[in-house]
Amino acid sequence: MTVTLQTTNSAARDVSADAIVIAVGQDAGGQSTGGLVLPPGAQDVDAALGGGLASTLSALGATGKPEEITRIASAGKLAAPVIAAVGIGTATTAEPGSNDAEILRRSAGAAVRSLASPKIRSIALALPADDAASAEATALGAMLGSYYFGRYRSNGHPAAELTLLASGAHVGPAVGRAQVLAAAVTLVRDLVNTSPSHLYPETFAAQAGEIAASSGLGIDVLDDTALAAGGYGGIRGVGQGSVHPPRLVRLSYQHAEASRTVVFIGKGITFDSGGLSLKPPKAMETMKSDMSGAAAVLAALQAVAALKPGVNVIGYLPLAENMPGSSAQRPSDVITMYGGTTVEVLNTDAEGRLVLADALARSGEDAPDLLVDIATLTGAQVVALGTRVSGVMANDDTVRDGIVAAATRAGEAMWPMPLPEELRKGLDSKVADLANVAAERDGGMLVAGLFLREFVPDGVRWAHLDIAGPAFHEGEPYGYTPKGGTGAAVRTLVQIAQDVADGRL
Ligand code: BES
Ligand code: ZN
Ligand code: ZN
Repeated sequence: MTVTLQTTNSAARDVSADAIVIAVGQDAGGQSTGGLVLPPGAQDVDAALGGGLASTLSALGATGKPEEITRIASAGKLAAPVIAAVGIGTATTAEPGSNDAEILRRSAGAAVRSLASPKIRSIALALPADDAASAEATALGAMLGSYYFGRYRSNGHPAAELTLLASGAHVGPAVGRAQVLAAAVTLVRDLVNTSPSHLYPETFAAQAGEIAASSGLGIDVLDDTALAAGGYGGIRGVGQGSVHPPRLVRLSYQHAEASRTVVFIGKGITFDSGGLSLKPPKAMETMKSDMSGAAAVLAALQAVAALKPGVNVIGYLPLAENMPGSSAQRPSDVITMYGGTTVEVLNTDAEGRLVLADALARSGEDAPDLLVDIATLTGAQVVALGTRVSGVMANDDTVRDGIVAAATRAGEAMWPMPLPEELRKGLDSKVADLANVAAERDGGMLVAGLFLREFVPDGVRWAHLDIAGPAFHEGEPYGYTPKGGTGAAVRTLVQIAQDVADGRL
């Protein structure tokens, strides 16, 4: 499902829509003693109403705090019948990567999300958009907040129509970038929300094929026979218990003048039952989201093909369904990964690292300048960092900090995590080169990172993003984040490609 946003030069008074959104700020001290701040778009509405807007909002309890929504009727003074004032705190203009940018995205998102309904089908936004950064933030937040997944609803409806009131030379490029990022995040959310009876390796690869064709990306898909011939023991071992055979998708974006290459690898477990190390029922309910990393990589390639940064980008999607069928791998099975490393599979629920290992080893043939994998890898990530902050590990501290900085610029929460050497010996196996889990549960996110590190080609700068918590949102919606698939990390991947192109990473 696509989301789009138009722009208009119309005045707030004249724009025809079911509702118009304005911003209401707090004075810089953060104190709101009824003295609400009206930014330019809100001032236009105030003038059309004949004044008194701030005191009306204040009387209704508005304080201007971020994401707070106060609705009033325009009573015929505006073309739009409903006015919704959304708090933006003390946010003013939105430098990329600043907290203000995130406040604008979230407030625009919260406003659209709270308004969109069967009655309100078109929404005009008279929100801060006077410079490129705030126009992009407002447009992106509004589009992400309008997300609606109706595929399985008999009474589903299309997403609301959005119109941003903005003019100036900066608007086109800023809104264009927001459109590309919104389409990427929407693609991830749709893929994650799709039921695993409809999204399995074969159908996921087919969808990647359609996106590659329409975006002009190169694509190569290995089916089970090709995976066997190529020696991809990790992907095949995980997929062998399912009636849906695995796939390895390789996408490529080539830039004519680029000399550097970044490789992204996304965990693509279309459903993680745990395999024979079966998960309890509650833990399984959200495991259709275990392909969020692969979806983020596919969507990032789609966005890169549109934004055209000066860098070559390759994306791997190792896709498998982790099921306990009669041909499933057994705890204690030994498998041979791409490149020859043997792994004793002691826990079939630690499957993500197995499919990633094959792709990491394979990526050496692309001679990456930077290698980044992204995965809903461990429950330990959620224990350590919660559901909104992803963990970043790397074989190089500068790379790790560079990735965290890229995430901050993109407006996503990621935090540096170590790879402590003393945990590595926990992965020694009694019979093979490595075991896929350690006997001790402690530091589970880091142990998984250390396992992956074993498969990073020599001399390659590598980072690992564990997005287990942030990829899927089970709580109440907030800001521009709905329930279900969130699209976590895709904006960071796009930023990483841009940062490599710009020589920042
Ligand atoms: N897909 C899960 C990790 C996960 C948990 C993602 C919760 C999102 C939310 C992964 O395959 C898994 O099961 N990991 C195990 C590893 C353990 C067996 C070492 C885990 O975290 O329990
Ligand atoms: Zn698992
Ligand atoms: Zn998993």
